[in-house]
Amino acid sequence: MIDLLIRGGRVLDPARGLDRRAHVLIDGGRVRGVVAPDEAPPARAAIDAAGLWVAPGLIDMHVHLREPGGEHKETIATGAAAAVAGGFTTVAAMANTNPVNDDPELTRWIIARAEAAGLARVLPIAAVTKGLAGETLTDFAALRAAGAVAFSDDGAPIMRREIMRAALAAGRQVDAAVIAHAEDRTLAGGGIVHAGPVAERLGLPGMPGVAESAMVERDCALAAAVGARLHIAHLSTAAAVAIVRAARAAGTRVTAEAAPHHFTLDAEAVAERGALAKMNPPLRTRADVAAVCAALADGTIDVIASDHAPHHADEKALGMAAAPFGVIGLETTLPLVLELVHAGVLDAATAIAALTVGPARALGIAAGTLAPDAVADVTLIDPDVAWTIDPTAFRSRSRNTPFAGRAVRGLAVAVCLAGRVVDHHLGGRYTR
Ligand code: DOR
Ligand code: ZN
Repeated sequence: MIDLLIRGGRVLDPARGLDRRAHVLIDGGRVRGVVAPDEAPPARAAIDAAGLWVAPGLIDMHVHLREPGGEHKETIATGAAAAVAGGFTTVAAMANTNPVNDDPELTRWIIARAEAAGLARVLPIAAVTKGLAGETLTDFAALRAAGAVAFSDDGAPIMRREIMRAALAAGRQVDAAVIAHAEDRTLAGGGIVHAGPVAERLGLPGMPGVAESAMVERDCALAAAVGARLHIAHLSTAAAVAIVRAARAAGTRVTAEAAPHHFTLDAEAVAERGALAKMNPPLRTRADVAAVCAALADGTIDVIASDHAPHHADEKALGMAAAPFGVIGLETTLPLVLELVHAGVLDAATAIAALTVGPARALGIAAGTLAPDAVADVTLIDPDVAWTIDPTAFRSRSRNTPFAGRAVRGLAVAVCLAGRVVDHHLGGRYTR
């Protein structure tokens, strides 16, 4: 008698090249096997997964949970609840909290807070430099020992190239990736939207694409020289995509991520949605969107991450210039990825890979697969159900999304966390 049988779904485990109708067996909090539909053993509980995708628990390696210091926007507990609602069983939390996560004590505190919330696993990303100031490296060994999975000053670029080089070397020492927020501030020129026709029409200061691509070029060169693991956050331009493609072809250990807003929206959305479409990097051109999609399809971009960046409605109401950068994404990422699948841009396995094994490899964590003995983190997806994005229904404490009212198809109907079912929309499919 096993604990849980997930019956007859389309099991997608890209880490092992698996895509077939099967049962998933779970016992003692771990996956015990993926077996043919005629081999079902007796189980204490069962989920009828006919018509559903059964995937490894989704991983979002780029979220901002705002605790400590910004609890009016999000807490670790509300962020973890939003994650699970969106189908994510693991999230990696950026260090730009207040105080900054540049201290092993705080890293341990975040882990304890997340464990108390008991929902998605929250993996802390520690700061590269003290206070995100770009000057003095943090203690990578102590932060790694405290549980940091990667290092990033996300939100701020590391402008000094010798500091970035030292960071990559330190990351290599502790076998952790450095995650780059690629933005050359001397080129970004204080822009708040992409430098182009929309910025001109609206009379807003523009941030040119080369502010990103010049920094991606620098960081790829440094990673190659140091032999370190580099991950590029929120890639948004065709030029930066081409640099990453060439670096990977040359054998540089670089992974890269795209956020849903950068593969579904272009700068025109700023004209319609105002500050709700303000984020950094900004929404770009249609050609950039096409390049990001092509890079997801060919594996140049191997990670999809939300860059979930909660902000209070009052802050977003300050208008384009004064509103903070950022949009939430934990509860909209999956349907927006599925738009690419429904449109034939990505196949199901590539889409799921970018949400599971891709981020697991970029972070170097043992997750993102349904292999035997893996911790039983599972996401059950109805790929077809039609719904309309309604921010008032979000578990997140914030509502700042440009996708309100968008008609989408597909959602996470449930997740398993170490075999424990967190049920959102299973109804009669779940028997105990
Ligand atoms: O849009 C963004 N929001 N970009 C960043 O780099 C930081 C983030 C935030 O923390 O709000
Ligand atoms: Zn971010």
